[in-house]
Amino acid sequence: MEKTFMMIKPDGVKRGLIGEIVKRLEVKGFTFSALKLSLISKEIAQKHYEEHLGKPFYKDLIEYITSGPVLLMVIQGHNAVLEARKMIGATNPNDAMPGTIRGDYAWEMSQNVVHGADSAQSALREINLYFERHELI
Ligand code: PPS
Repeated sequence: MEKTFMMIKPDGVKRGLIGEIVKRLEVKGFTFSALKLSLISKEIAQKHYEEHLGKPFYKDLIEYITSGPVLLMVIQGHNAVLEARKMIGATNPNDAMPGTIRGDYAWEMSQNVVHGADSAQSALREINLYFERHELI
């Protein structure tokens, strides 16, 4: 069993996609270690995306991710990091295959509905950024 971090971004929450995305994860066989609706502060968002500081999209990304509530999730399953990334699809929705979350629900890079940790190391870092130990089941 491996844990990974996923987030339904503000556009996904605003569009009422929480149920749909959570259902996909459950039907696939993931179990939930934690689920939390939250408004991310600028400081936490900057920590999350610190590797992208200086890139042309950085400012828009921070503004977008702090623009409304997000659903923070820790999910677990076999090869969770890789399997979750497969279900999410390519970062640019124009490249995401139908059947993936971004392929089915997103049109643009600037509003791509979900985030998933890209490695076990990132998953651990992001879980620790958003959750206290006692919040994890
Ligand atoms: S890079 O430079 O290749 O490492 O960047 P990339 O992996 O393509 O994207 C990193 C994260 O930035 C998000 N992104 C954007 N957000 C808002 N607006 C714009 N224009 C934009 N371009 C990229 C992208 O979705 C990645 O976020 P996460 O949450 O990791 O999916």
